[in-house]
Amino acid sequence: MSEPFALVTGTTGFIAARLVPALVADGWRVRATGRRPRPADLPAEVDYRPADLVSDDLGDLCAGVTHVFHLAGASSSKSSQEEMDRNNVEATRRLLDAAGKVERFVHMSSTSVYGEEEQLPVPVREDVEPHPSRGYGKAKWGAEQQVWAAAEAGVPAVVLRPVTVYGPGATKLLASAILDAAIERAAGLPRLAVGAEPNEQRLLHIDDLVAACVHVATTEAAVGRAFNVVDGLYPSSHDVVAVLAPCFGMEPEIGGEGLDEARRRTVYERLVAHGMEPAILFTPDRLRLMGKTNRNNRLSTEALESTGFRFARTDFAAAVADNVDWYRAHHWLPATG
Ligand SMILES: NC(=O)c1ccc[n+]([C@@H]2O[C@H](COP(=O)([O-])OP(=O)(O)OC[C@H]3O[C@@H](n4cnc5c(N)ncnc54)[C@H](OP(=O)(O)O)[C@@H]3O)[C@@H](O)[C@H]2O)c1
Repeated sequence: MSEPFALVTGTTGFIAARLVPALVADGWRVRATGRRPRPADLPAEVDYRPADLVSDDLGDLCAGVTHVFHLAGASSSKSSQEEMDRNNVEATRRLLDAAGKVERFVHMSSTSVYGEEEQLPVPVREDVEPHPSRGYGKAKWGAEQQVWAAAEAGVPAVVLRPVTVYGPGATKLLASAILDAAIERAAGLPRLAVGAEPNEQRLLHIDDLVAACVHVATTEAAVGRAFNVVDGLYPSSHDVVAVLAPCFGMEPEIGGEGLDEARRRTVYERLVAHGMEPAILFTPDRLRLMGKTNRNNRLSTEALESTGFRFARTDFAAAVADNVDWYRAHHWLPATG
């Protein structure tokens, strides 16, 4: 093998921003890219080159790289359907063309490809025929089709399909629920309310996803395969609130409603005016992540574990408490409360 030289896309975003320092710490030479200017906290030795994967020439970006970690993509929290298609499907097609026959092409897909309308055999295995039901899942499945076509043509590709990722640096999904708790605490509520009907969640800590990226890039048995990535804990919405409430000195309350949107927004704006960074996405629906049900929620991780991968962040309460501390230290949440 030649000296490993990684190109990481999406490094102005959440997941790739965590993968890059891990690769550097492991001794990889890294070139990083995103559309926005160089992130301030990127390790100094990383060669950063801004590029739009859809419209820029990608030849120089890919020159000399042995491994591609393709994490750039667009999700429904911030993008229209047209943007999601363009920045997932077209971006992936152009990157594969430009990268050619690298030693490994690791593609970040999503379990949204399985969809929620069609009942699949559960726990869902990677070899099932996906039935994406929403625009994001369709765009991610379209991007995967590009990867599988390249794999047919000889590219040693691996596809990861993670669930909702949380942890330091996350700005959406569980992060928004954590923000909701901070808002209600700042409003003086003693209890954090959650709907009476428990709703099963599926989550993954960023550290485990970063470890999985490195694992499949360096494990021969991973080539040509897709892997679900989920920590296997499946906390219910009640469990999540039971873990979140004490982080804010609150009691969990099953069956309550919490504040309405207007009141939450007023408190949120007050917190921002008092110095909280508006980094975490404020969602009009309170605890939005936990309102969704999915008949295909349970996923098999046998395939990934059969290649020797083990999940490490399996203490959910400790991981959430660390995550809240990180947000406080970075002023993404008020320092106390
Ligand atoms: N976060 C999750 O919970 C989760 C779960 C499952 C799968 N995934 C997948 O994991 C990947 C990374 O997710 P994330 O949460 O880190 O995403 P993110 O924070 O939204 O970041 C997306 C990244 O993609 C870049 N990008 C988008 N379109 C681009 C284009 N046309 N050219 C170049 N760069 C482009 C963005 O660049 P700029 O910001 O500079 O424009 C940004 O760096 C995505 O493919 C996502 O679908 C995420």
